[in-house]
Amino acid sequence: MTIFETTRILSDIRMKTSKVYDCTMIELSKHHAPQGNISVVENNKDVPFEVKRCYYLYDVPGGESRGAHAHKELSQLIIAASGSFTVTLDDGEVKRTFLLNRPYQGLLIVPGIWRTLDDFSSGSVCMVLASHGYDKEDYIRDYDEFIKYKKGRL
Ligand code: TYD
Repeated sequence: MTIFETTRILSDIRMKTSKVYDCTMIELSKHHAPQGNISVVENNKDVPFEVKRCYYLYDVPGGESRGAHAHKELSQLIIAASGSFTVTLDDGEVKRTFLLNRPYQGLLIVPGIWRTLDDFSSGSVCMVLASHGYDKEDYIRDYDEFIKYKKGRL
């Protein structure tokens, strides 16, 4: 078996067995000053992966939802850089909802977790640090398909 096949099998197992309890809020460093605060995220120190991409959601109209998908290999750290929103995680068995409203906290999401983002406050910015570049093949956008993946039927 090649190293590529082995890596693929391992990431497949990781994706299928991950639980919402593997996802956690990470407290980032906060350098407080009267002139303003700074929070820092460093590769393999504050996040347990190497950041390959950063993107951010903004100007989300009130009442809109984002997400509603899972990733097969991607790990992410989601930060409310400004304002607030909720992130609901689902591993096919258990759901957990997190309120993100502090720029010095990040929600770590491991592969194989369905996520939905809601309740964006006006002017909020959802910053996402990601372990891989953009790959549309890494998405599962159909919930029934996600459940089949998690139960090992795909
Ligand atoms: P998507 O991840 O589907 O956003 P959400 O799940 O929050 O609705 O991304 C929406 C679109 O943006 C997608 O069709 C392609 C584009 N996009 C990129 O080109 N690169 C990226 O890194 C991301 C995250 C999205």
